[in-house]
Amino acid sequence: MAIRKAKGVSRRGVLKGAAAVTALSAVPTGWAIAQKRPLKIGLMLPYSGTYAKLGENITYGVEMVIAEKGGKLGGREVELIKLDDESKPELAPQNADRLVKRDQVDVLIGTVHSGVQMGIHRVVRESGTLTIIPNAGNVAITRELCARNVYRASFSNWQPAYGIGLAAGKKGYKRGIWVSWDYAAGVESCEGFKQGLEEQGGTFVDFLKLPFPQTNFQPLLAQIPGLEVDIVGAFFAGGGAVQFVKEYAAAGLKAPLCGNGFLTEGTLQAQGEAAEGIETALHYGDGLDNPKNIAFRKAFLEKAGREADVYAVQGYDSAQLLAIGLEAVNGDIEDEENLHKALENAKIDSPRGPMAMSPSHEVIHNMYLRKVTNGQNKVIGIAAEQLADPGTGCKMT
Ligand code: PHB
Repeated sequence: MAIRKAKGVSRRGVLKGAAAVTALSAVPTGWAIAQKRPLKIGLMLPYSGTYAKLGENITYGVEMVIAEKGGKLGGREVELIKLDDESKPELAPQNADRLVKRDQVDVLIGTVHSGVQMGIHRVVRESGTLTIIPNAGNVAITRELCARNVYRASFSNWQPAYGIGLAAGKKGYKRGIWVSWDYAAGVESCEGFKQGLEEQGGTFVDFLKLPFPQTNFQPLLAQIPGLEVDIVGAFFAGGGAVQFVKEYAAAGLKAPLCGNGFLTEGTLQAQGEAAEGIETALHYGDGLDNPKNIAFRKAFLEKAGREADVYAVQGYDSAQLLAIGLEAVNGDIEDEENLHKALENAKIDSPRGPMAMSPSHEVIHNMYLRKVTNGQNKVIGIAAEQLADPGTGCKMT
């Protein structure tokens, strides 16, 4: 289902633009003609299922930047075309195709689920559509499958999990396991946790997994006492994270629970007491006291009627990145050389703190150590400063 939401281009505005073009040159160029129409941005995100709230918050973040800039990016009106990808990898190629071929979007912002991202990637690598990833962290996208037209404004699955593995090892935990869904985000975060823990002298014991988006956690929880571990790390997000954290607390296990920050992101109200004290690593924290974050959280609360989270930040930063690129070329998205130069060199003032692009189009940013305190992800340190993904195997063409 494609929900079209045209940001009104007034007829007067169009006529005014047309008059200006005619005044400049008797024979309008292709670019002058194209400039008259709004820039089409496809938002391919989950608006249903366990990741629905993630997709909504990303959308709010994108809309906030567009509103801040008076409804225009790089001087051009924008039209948002929203498509619910349902976090279903099997539907991803046809959904991405609809946006690229039928709707002919100029830019695609999507998505949340790593498996769906792979479907998008196949389509946009071929079409060359400028693509900005507002969440999905699968490492291949900025490693061996990196592409000139694809940028990530979120994180790689390795980054926050490596951060919490390091932090757990530094705290002296010796034997650790990872619990997650059995798909790219779970598997790759497990690898990050293992690497971080082992670098600090710990031992990685096992990976307990179940298919996405199942939430039958009891058989996994029942295995934990027998593994004799002193730390349990986990990746779950959205509705699944709410349930896992509650069931973990109810199980009364000895080993503390930690994770990459998605475990407690946008979920704290629903998790209540069960989340108190959980330590996680992530590129964001509620209480970051930089001026951008303070203003962002206030504006988000006004718009959405709920507290901001990392997904809102990632949507906001995806649009901030796009705005930097489009401003550099005055909205002429066809000016690829200057567009990419601006995107690659972007230094973004993010609510997360400083954020830059690596050569493989991955974010370089701090991994904060957070602890749930009185219903907030309070930043208690930095697990890894200005962390870049290794970008292994990326050959940018
Ligand atoms: C992913 O599928 O890459 C993913 C989904 C939700 C998250 C983080 C990563 O919160």
